[in-house]
Parts: sequence; structure tokens; C-alpha cells
Amino acid sequence: MTGPSIGTPLARVDGRLKVTGGARYASEFDRPGQAYAVMIGATVGLGDIIRIDDAAVRRLPGVLAVISHLNAPRLAYQPHKSGIDPAAGERLHVLQDDQVRFFGQPVAVVVAETLDQAEHAAPVLEIEYQPRPPLIDIDGATLVVPDAARNSAGRIAADKARGDADRALSEAAGTVDVTYWMARENHNPMEPHATVAAWTGDRLTLWSKSQFVVNEAAEIAAIFGLAAEQVQVICPFIGGAFGTTLRTWPHVTLAAIAARVAGRPVKLALTRRQMFYATGHRPRTVQRVALGADADGRLTSLIHEGTAESSRYEQYVEGLTSVSSLLYSCANVRTRYRLAPVDSGTPTYMRGPGEASGVYALECAMDELAVALGLDPIALRLRNEPVIDEGAGRPFSSRSLRQCYALGAERFGWSRRDPRPRSMRDGRLLIGWGMAAATYPANQGKASARVGLLADGSAEVEAAASDMGPGTYTSMTQVAADALGLPPDRVRFSLGRSDFPPTPPHGGSMTMASVGSAIHAAARMARDRAIVAGTPIEAEGHAERNGEVARSFSMHAFGAVFAEVAVDPDLAIVRVRRVVGAYAAGRIVNPRLATSQCTGGMVGGIGMALMERTVLDPRDGRPVNAHMADYLVPVNLDIGSLEALFVDEADPHLNALGVKGLGEIALVGTAPAVANAVFHATGKRVRDLPIRIETLLES
Ligand code: MOS
Repeated sequence: MTGPSIGTPLARVDGRLKVTGGARYASEFDRPGQAYAVMIGATVGLGDIIRIDDAAVRRLPGVLAVISHLNAPRLAYQPHKSGIDPAAGERLHVLQDDQVRFFGQPVAVVVAETLDQAEHAAPVLEIEYQPRPPLIDIDGATLVVPDAARNSAGRIAADKARGDADRALSEAAGTVDVTYWMARENHNPMEPHATVAAWTGDRLTLWSKSQFVVNEAAEIAAIFGLAAEQVQVICPFIGGAFGTTLRTWPHVTLAAIAARVAGRPVKLALTRRQMFYATGHRPRTVQRVALGADADGRLTSLIHEGTAESSRYEQYVEGLTSVSSLLYSCANVRTRYRLAPVDSGTPTYMRGPGEASGVYALECAMDELAVALGLDPIALRLRNEPVIDEGAGRPFSSRSLRQCYALGAERFGWSRRDPRPRSMRDGRLLIGWGMAAATYPANQGKASARVGLLADGSAEVEAAASDMGPGTYTSMTQVAADALGLPPDRVRFSLGRSDFPPTPPHGGSMTMASVGSAIHAAARMARDRAIVAGTPIEAEGHAERNGEVARSFSMHAFGAVFAEVAVDPDLAIVRVRRVVGAYAAGRIVNPRLATSQCTGGMVGGIGMALMERTVLDPRDGRPVNAHMADYLVPVNLDIGSLEALFVDEADPHLNALGVKGLGEIALVGTAPAVANAVFHATGKRVRDLPIRIETLLES
């Protein structure tokens, strides 16, 4: 008999496979007779394709097919929307017309015997465009009200108000009324997007990087006019994703088209540069936050108006201003959310989608208010800690933010902070300490799982799912082990196949709550049957959030993030020396994995604060820094000490496991903590992420 596995720091069950190269990623699958495809993107930002000449390409060695809208199969493109697709608008139809909607849009594909031959041939294809001037700058866009009523998340309202925030602002004793900008960010996981497509008659198998294999199979089936069962998606490992493989992007369809036209299996991998075009991005945002408070620092007014870019053909919607209705107690709150459609590919979920951007603005504004009122930033927040979710009018299922402040502050040494800007130094370096609150919804989706108990006393567990790095293989093994009463080494968990029991997207921090609950249910069922039967057993379990509970409670994870920066006073170089994050996210299934999740999220937040920024050429929307030399992400030397702490939180309302999810909240809060630390160090308030040397020097 063993003790419970949940709560123990079990090492990754797939760790050995990963470090020995045994884990296979999408582009490492090879099929007999496989050919190679290279995607070709538009070199104008908007316009018509008026001529394509493939004669020269077709004469090149090894070339098997050159496919564009002129000769691509006409695809069914049956309606298909899953919970992650924009409610309004329609996905790009790949190679179905002569229209270029954004720079880099896939307009052709070259298939050859070898990758070298395909790469050699692709640039030889002659494509002539009739360009039109695209709209790139979000300032020039005509704002639209997001179609929130039809958004699957349901919680995202374009406009929300309680009380009279504008009037309360004009009467407040202390106010802050400021605007924050955030740059576009592109996901840059180590593993590029890739798909290997193989047809057998009218059945299609895709070895494809995906955080949502069930949906990728269903969507590709809809695009090709097939039944969902005719498409199988396989993805056992993901080398990081952060949201960029939640949707099924054009290259997946392109790989399937290429394989059909070439009559052979085809491998298509995107280059790093191509990952900046049509695989989503975190939208640029402009946010006004106005806060009013009485002399004691009690919020009397909160106004949060956010605008985010979207594409012309779809409305990508996220919870940009949602946090402002629930993070603080305030009688007068008004939020407004608008989209700025530009000639670009559609943005998508990127770690902490919506909340990360919204919390940045709100939490920097709270810091500014603390300075204006002469209050400690934590004291200001504690003074405005609500009893219930005032926006939803419901109690929280649990909210341990006070404990996060206390735990994080204690560990960080916050009480030793001198509040005066430019007052703390280390030699000639300016030292800054900043903090911010964090929150993210505790999501749970409908999920299923299968558990088989074998005659030798071991168990096999299956769920579609994905593991983009958080350690899903490991944590689910722990959940199954405990529910079955087995040690974890007697449990084998498999994931990443669309024919396994269906699960929701591996995103929105909902995998533990959703898949974990389904595995828990299936394992309990299998164990109960085994006690009766004594023979091999198979059980399929299902779990989803209890609707009554969901209507009764507001469910969110919370956190408090503390950052120390050192700033060179002459060169304005900012180094993040340490970050301490204290999180309350329900039960922690595996503290080792949870720590890894959170420190990884902090790295993403440091990137957001100081480095990550996709620069678009205003003439054609070309991402000019679409490579790792100029799109900066933090590397080891950019990162100091990172510490993640967890508040014990037992929440009986959430689900059978009592988990809230950790992936997103791990990033939320870091960027504002760093930005507030930069202000504390320098006395300069930069309201434009990433904070760059040149902005700090000129401000
Ligand atoms: Mo994460 S943006 O929910 O993959």
C-alpha cells in the first residue's frame, strides 16, 4: 500500500523520454514515400493575386506539385465552430480565392521529393499581385463592438457597468486617469508548427502539433467535407505552445491538400519566420484606466476601456476588461471593450489571454494610485478587497488573495521597501521593488476518459487531451493512481489522439479540472467494478462543471507577484533580479510541476514587460522582426531568481479534485509587477510594453 500520489512532487513520467530524444514531436513522424511541402506566403499586405506562373518551378528537380487557388481542390468548408473559434466571422479558406487579406497569408504550396528540393523550388514561383494599401495601425481602425452575445465564453461583455463611474471619478479625492499600450506578441515555442498528412482512400491521418486534437480532426473533416471519424489527429508531445496550437491554422489544411494532390504522405513544417504570419498572436492593446478613491484609499470609481486589434475577417475576443469588475470592491465601475479590425491574420489566445493584458493596465494604475495617495501598494489593495464578486453578484467559491499578499510579501521582504522612487540602490544601480495582483478564471470543460484495469493489476488510462509542457502525463497519472489505489508506476496514461475519449481544449488552464475530473470519475468507476468482478475492467468516465454550482459561485484563481529590478542609471538597462509569486489555485496536484509552470509563466511575463514585441511595417503589415535575433524572448541570462509559492486552498465547490488550474495565472501579474518595479527604481512611469531602453531614456 502506498500513500496518496496527489500532492507529491512526482518527477515527470515522460522526463526520460524527453531528455533521451525518445519523445516524438509532429515533424519527427515519417511515413513511407513521404514528400515535403513548403508554404508560400503573400508578399503584400492586401490585394489580389493577378498572375501565377509555375512553369519554371515545375521543371526543377524533385518537384511533385505546385498548388495555388488556380488548381487547388475546391474544399467543402462546412460550417464549424468550436468553443475556441471566434463567434463572429469566418476562418480563412485556404487556396480558395485570389484575395490576399494580410502579409504572409498562405497563397501557394510547393511539394517535392525532399525538403531541400521544396525549399529550393518555392522562391522560384512567380506570383504577381495587385496590391492595395492595408490598414495596419490600430489608431486608424473603425472600432467595432465585439459580438459578445455569441461568444462561447459567455463571460466577456463588451460593456458592463454598475453605479456611475464617470460621476464618481469627477468627485473623487484622489484620481489616476492614464492610458497603457501593449505591443503585439507572437508565441515562440521551441517546437515550430508542423503537420504530417497521409490519406488512405478517403481517410486522413494527421500527425500534427495541436492543443486540441479532437477539434482539429473535426475541423479538418468539415473543411474537406468528411465525417469526423474519417480524420484522425495524433499528437503525443508538444514542445511548448502557449495557445498558438489551440486553433487549426491554414498550414494544417495545406498539408492535407498537398498530400491529396501529390498522392503521397506530405510533411509540412513552418519556419520560425512563418510562425509570425498565420498562427495567431497576442493582440496589440490600448487601455485607459481611470481610478478614483476617497482620502482613505477606498475606490469610488473604476473605469477600464480597452481596445484590442483583430482581423478584418474574424472577431477574436478575450477577457481584456473582465478583471476590472471583480478584482476590487467598488460601487461605480464601467468597463468598455472594443475591437480594432486591421489587415492582419486573426489574433489568438496567448498565455493568460485577456487577463494578462487587462491586469497589466489595472495593476499599474493601482500602483499609480498608491503613489498619488501616498499608500503602500499592498495596503491600497487590502483596503479594496471585496467580500463577493461584485460584478457577478455572487460569492467567490474561494478567494485567498489576502493570503497571497501575506505569503509573497513575507518571502520577498516587502516590509523593507523604501517607498520613495530612486531611493534604493546597489552601488550605482537603481533598485526597484514592485508588486501586482493576479487573477484568472477557474475554467472547467466537459471531458471524458477511459480506464482499463488489467489482469496484472496495472492500469491503462486514455483521454484525447494534450501535454504542451505543464506535465499532464504526470499529473493525470497521479490522479488515476489515487483514485484506483495504485502506485503511480502501475498506471500508464496515454493522450494526444482524437479517437480517445474527448476532452476540451488544452488551454484556458482547464486541463487539470476537466481531464483530471474525468479520469477521477473513470478510475473510481473501474475500481468499484473491479471489487465486484475481479477480472479485467474497462470504464469510461465523464465530468463537467455542475451548472448549479457554476451559477452560484464566481470561480477564480488569485495570485500576488513581487519583482525586483536593477536599472543602470546611465544606460537604462533593466535586469529582473528576482520574482516571487504567491498563488492560490485550489489544490496543487504536483508541487514540482506547479512550480515549473509558475516559473515558466514568470519568464513569459518578464518577456512581456521588457522584450517581446512584434514590429509591423506600416506599409504592408510585414512583421519586420520575424526571427529570434530581433524578436526578443528572455534567455537564461535575463532571468534571476524565480520563486513560486502556493497558498493552501481547499475549495469544495470546484470539482472532485478541488483544482483551479495554474497555466495562465502563472503569467498574469508578472508584467505589471516588473513595470511597477521599474517605476520604483527610476521614478519614470513608462506606460508602453515592452519597456525598452529608448523609452526609458527619453521619458
Ligand atoms: Mo493557453 S493561451 O490557454 O494555451
